[in-house]
Amino acid sequence: MLIGLMGVGKTTVGRRLAKALGLNFRDADEEVERAAGRSVSEIFDDFGEAAFRDGERKVISRLLDEPPMVIALGGGAFVDPETRARIKEKGVSVWLQADVDTLVKRVSRRDTRPLLRGQDPRSVLQRLLEARTPAYAEADIHVDASAGSHQTTLDLIMRAL
Ligand code: S3P
Repeated sequence: MLIGLMGVGKTTVGRRLAKALGLNFRDADEEVERAAGRSVSEIFDDFGEAAFRDGERKVISRLLDEPPMVIALGGGAFVDPETRARIKEKGVSVWLQADVDTLVKRVSRRDTRPLLRGQDPRSVLQRLLEARTPAYAEADIHVDASAGSHQTTLDLIMRAL
């Protein structure tokens, strides 16, 4: 299970990690979108963030009952105590850590995320990083995803597993 803030590379690194481990890969946001028949932005707009969080919790719970796989979680998923407890019980959690400068560079490239729309990405990411660090820190493995390429991050995860 890859956790961490928006833009840190969970999906890209997750795909490569799954390949390296010979496991299936799922992106939790995509699974929520599939279940809802809407994009994450549309879910936020049509039903609100609380409904998205409910759907996210259910989808992740279902994925955790499937055979072992690599899952890239949405940035807020591991903050939910119920989801966090389920993940801790079922699998290995990996926190991809990055500083705000790195995240800002990565998110500004494709920025359709509802929490960033119309906001200053730096201040949102700074606030989320502070608020979520205590939850993220409960992950089993912490990996620095700031410095190198996605391949470097993958190598660090493989070494830590
Ligand atoms: C969110 C992160 C997004 C997505 C939603 C909310 C968050 O996923 O789940 O926009 O609360 O940090 P990514 O981290 O994959 O961008």
